[in-house]
Amino acid sequence: MTDNESSDLPSPQPWHLVGTVADVTKRRKVVLTIAGRQVLVLAHDGGFFAFDNICVHRDRELSKGVVLNGKLVCPGHQWAFELGTGWESVKHECQPTHAVRTEGDDVFVLVSPGPWPAPDPTSAD
Ligand code: FES
Repeated sequence: MTDNESSDLPSPQPWHLVGTVADVTKRRKVVLTIAGRQVLVLAHDGGFFAFDNICVHRDRELSKGVVLNGKLVCPGHQWAFELGTGWESVKHECQPTHAVRTEGDDVFVLVSPGPWPAPDPTSAD
């Protein structure tokens, strides 16, 4: 393919630098605005997790919530989203999550375009 030819494949989504592993671990919560979307990156128990920062319920900021028993608890009405999946097992709703990776000393996030909400992980199919 030459530079003038186009591909039918979508452009790859870019990974965004969040910060160094040490800095994100120390801060525990980092909020970035990527393409107009607030993304919360959490450091917890040696891992990194990323959510949309605005709650799917009533638009409260999850960055003001707490992590309890492996779940991010929203300060609005205490919905508790699983760190790995964003699933809220009582309300059967899903908070959008995003992929996070480390490379060397840095933490990166890849903002998922959706669609949301994600499928129910407890469904039997
Ligand atoms: S705004 Fe998050 S649980 Fe209601």
